[in-house]
Amino acid sequence: MTTVKSGRVLVVGGYGAVGATVAGTLGDWFPGRVVVAGRDGARAVRLGGVRVDVTDPVGFRRTLDGLGDVAAVVMCVEPPDSRIARACLERGVHLVDIGATRRLLDGVADLHGPAVDSGATAVISVGVAPGLTNLIARRAHEAVGGAERIDLTVMLGAGERHGADAVRWTVEHLAEPATARPVRAELPGYGPRTAYPFPFSDQYTLPRTLGAAQVTTRLCLDSGLLTATLFALRRAAGRSVVRQALTAVFRRVHAGGDGFAVRVDARRGGAHAAYALTGRAQSRVTGLVAAYVTREVLTGSLPAGVHHIEQLPALAHLPEELAEHGVAFQRLAGPPGG
Ligand SMILES: NC(=O)c1ccc[n+]([C@@H]2O[C@H](COP(=O)([O-])OP(=O)(O)OC[C@H]3O[C@@H](n4cnc5c(N)ncnc54)[C@H](OP(=O)(O)O)[C@@H]3O)[C@@H](O)[C@H]2O)c1
Repeated sequence: MTTVKSGRVLVVGGYGAVGATVAGTLGDWFPGRVVVAGRDGARAVRLGGVRVDVTDPVGFRRTLDGLGDVAAVVMCVEPPDSRIARACLERGVHLVDIGATRRLLDGVADLHGPAVDSGATAVISVGVAPGLTNLIARRAHEAVGGAERIDLTVMLGAGERHGADAVRWTVEHLAEPATARPVRAELPGYGPRTAYPFPFSDQYTLPRTLGAAQVTTRLCLDSGLLTATLFALRRAAGRSVVRQALTAVFRRVHAGGDGFAVRVDARRGGAHAAYALTGRAQSRVTGLVAAYVTREVLTGSLPAGVHHIEQLPALAHLPEELAEHGVAFQRLAGPPGG
C-alpha cells in the first residue's frame, strides 16, 4: 500500500506562470495541504498562502518554523544561492526545485550530505529544460550503449506568455559565450529549425551524471525570424540596457504559437538514437513535471539526498506519463525499445 507522507507542501512562486500549475495540480491531489508563497503578501494570503522572499533566508527559516508541518517545498522561483535549500534539507523538509542556473544547481547538489543526514530528498533539474531534457537524454544515452556525444535542441513558442522570471533568465543567459555551432534539427510537427548554442544547465549536468563526453544544448523559437534576431543580438546582450530592452520585448510581443519541442540526439561511433517530445505551454508542462515529482517524493520511496531527475529510475517514465496532458513523446531513430 502507498503511504503518503503527511504535512503541508509550500509552493514558493505558487502564483507564477509555473507555480500556479504546480499549486493547482498538487491541490487536486492533496486537498488542503498546499500553501502558496511569494513576495506579494496580500496576494499570497488571498490564496490561503504566506509571504516569502527567497532573497531573505532568515525570514524563510522563520516561515518554515512558523508553519511547523511542512513536508515538502517546491521552489518555482530561483533564489540567489543555496541557503533556502539548506534551510529545507537541514530540517528534513523535502525539496523539488525547478531552478535552471548551473551555479545554483551545483550549490544545492553540494547539500547531499546534510540531506542524507536529515532523511530529506531533494530533486533538482525539474521541468522541461532542465527536466524532461535530462530524462530523454538518459534514454538516448542508454539506447546507444553510452553516448560519446549528446545534442539537445529546445524550441520554445514565442506566442506563449512565459513568466517574467523565465524571460529574465533566458535573456540573462543569452550573452554567455558559445563555442559550439548552430545546427538544423528536424522537429516533429515543425520541420527543420536552426537552433543556436544556449547554456541550459543540462549541458553541464549530463557529462557528470551520465558520463557523456560532449553535451551541447541549443535553443530556437517557433518563429525563425525571431530566433535569428535574438541570436544576432547575442553579443550586444552583454550590455544590461540591451538585456532590459529584450526582456521588455519578449514580455510584450507574443508572435507565434505556444507549442514547444525537445529533441535529443545521442551518438556513439556509428550508432545514433534520437527522441523528441512536443507539447503546448512549457510553463504548464514545467509545472506538471514539478507536481509529478513532488507526488513521487510524498508517496514514493525516493532515496534521501540530492538527485538530478535523471538519477532517479522511479521518474524515468515521466515523458510517457504526461501523454494525458497532450505531451507527445516519440523515438525518431535508434534501436526499438531503447
Ligand atoms: N526547469 C524548467 O524547465 C523551467 C521552465 C520554466 C521556468 N523555469 C524557472 O522557473 C522560475 C519561474 O518561472 P515563471 O515562468 O513561473 O516566472 P514568473 O511567472 O515570473 O513566476 C515567479 C513567481 O515567483 C514569485 N517570486 C519572484 N521573486 C520572488 C522572491 N524573491 N521570493 C519569493 N517569490 C518570488 C513571483 O511572485 P512575486 O513577484 O509576487 O514574488 C511569482 O509568483 C524561473 O526561475 C525560471 O527560470 C524553469
